[in-house]
Amino acid sequence: MRTAIAIDSRSATPLHRQIYDAWRGDILTGRFRRGERVPSTRELAAALKVARATVAQAYEQLLAEGYLHATRGSGTFVCRELPDELLQPKPVARASAKPASQVKLSRFGARLTEDFRYAPESPGSICFARWTPDLERFPLTIWRKLVLRALRQASRANLGYSREPQGIESLRVEIAAYVARSRAVRCTPEQVVVLSGSQQALDFCARLLTEPGDEVAFENPGYLGTRRIFEAHGLKLRPARIDNEGIAIRDLGRKSKLAYVTPSHQFPTGLAMSLPRRLELLSWARTHGAIVVEDDYDSEYRYSGPPLPALQGLADDVPVIYCGTFSKVMFPALRIGYVIVPEQLAAAFRRAKWINDRHTPTLEQLALAEFLGEGHLDRHVRRMRRLYGHRREVLVDALTRHFGGDAAVCGDAAGMSVMVRFAVADIAANATRKKVQIVSTAPYYLGKAPANEFLLGFSTLGDRAIREGIKRLAAVP
Ligand SMILES: Cc1ncc(COP(=O)(O)O)c(C=O)c1O
Repeated sequence: MRTAIAIDSRSATPLHRQIYDAWRGDILTGRFRRGERVPSTRELAAALKVARATVAQAYEQLLAEGYLHATRGSGTFVCRELPDELLQPKPVARASAKPASQVKLSRFGARLTEDFRYAPESPGSICFARWTPDLERFPLTIWRKLVLRALRQASRANLGYSREPQGIESLRVEIAAYVARSRAVRCTPEQVVVLSGSQQALDFCARLLTEPGDEVAFENPGYLGTRRIFEAHGLKLRPARIDNEGIAIRDLGRKSKLAYVTPSHQFPTGLAMSLPRRLELLSWARTHGAIVVEDDYDSEYRYSGPPLPALQGLADDVPVIYCGTFSKVMFPALRIGYVIVPEQLAAAFRRAKWINDRHTPTLEQLALAEFLGEGHLDRHVRRMRRLYGHRREVLVDALTRHFGGDAAVCGDAAGMSVMVRFAVADIAANATRKKVQIVSTAPYYLGKAPANEFLLGFSTLGDRAIREGIKRLAAVP
């Protein structure tokens, strides 16, 4: 009989616990083999010179936890399968063991065929491939203070699910006031639904307002973020050309359920939709019972002329879903955007938010409401407008200086990027050779794309980098 376990009657650990620990350890290290018969409680108690009840208590625990099992009439044995093994995560089956193709994705899932990845910035290169905010200029100290304040002032109730999936009231009040003063949007806080960026807004538009197979009018060229959502939902995209005044009304068709537009600063051309064209678009929607989705993603950044009022403010009797975001005016990782919807649609968007992800994080909403309420957003936007306006000027000057008539800058003085058509060939090859990162507009087109057309982001680059980048691009190889 193997009973050679050491117990210490002076230890603070109870004797039954010492016996349990010793047996468990010996079983796991293999000193006691699986299936091996263990001594009876009486035998072990005698060998260890302890009360039988003490051994019984240790055995009971080992039996309960699955280290031992008792068979009536024949004794107690070490289990063949031990609980600690069951607790170990099994090695994940190799992908080849069960091909993923055996799991059939839904049509929606099958349409998600690509991951998004920014082209990495290579060392020594000048990157015009970003049209995101210059995060170095974001007032992080103020934001940190407001987040900490929100955290300090938060009650425990703020840690539970929000009762307002549509966004906390103080933030919706601030957003309604902000879009009224900056964008001439007309709405009440009840029409505002706070979402996780415009991307969620556009996803909800597709889900709530269309059926798979529906036709939707889509700007051509247009924003890939929206296009991928519409394609995943199985919508038929009807390409609508962009001319000098905006989306071509004759291309919208009669059957389109909705038209997706970026009227303040068309992506990627940079053109603003003229007032007559806006009115025509609304009239088209009225005639055909269509919905207009207005993506107003970076309209704060206009560098000449008066700001253009939003389409939403012009539409009385046409449903316009206005999508706004804090990604461009603050920072993308905030993941807060909003829709402003006709009153009768607010409940649908609110319910979609609840079943989708409940609500946007409360603490960030509290901090954001203060950021707006204390005027920090307006001040930050004013500062950034001056900075980006200047950087755009530096870029356009450099293009004129180095390319003259061979580089046509499209669009208005607005936004964080400029679309440029080059009359010289081999721009892409030259860019690679000279370590300048630029983005072709080809992926933004449905159908054939023009050659030598590029989108140059300037918002994250200083003056010197912009000038140097364009000089490199123009240098004869
Ligand atoms: C046309 C357009 N809409 C919306 C967005 C912002 O998306 P989100 O609010 O989801 O960050 C972008 C960002 O690049 C954009 O280009």
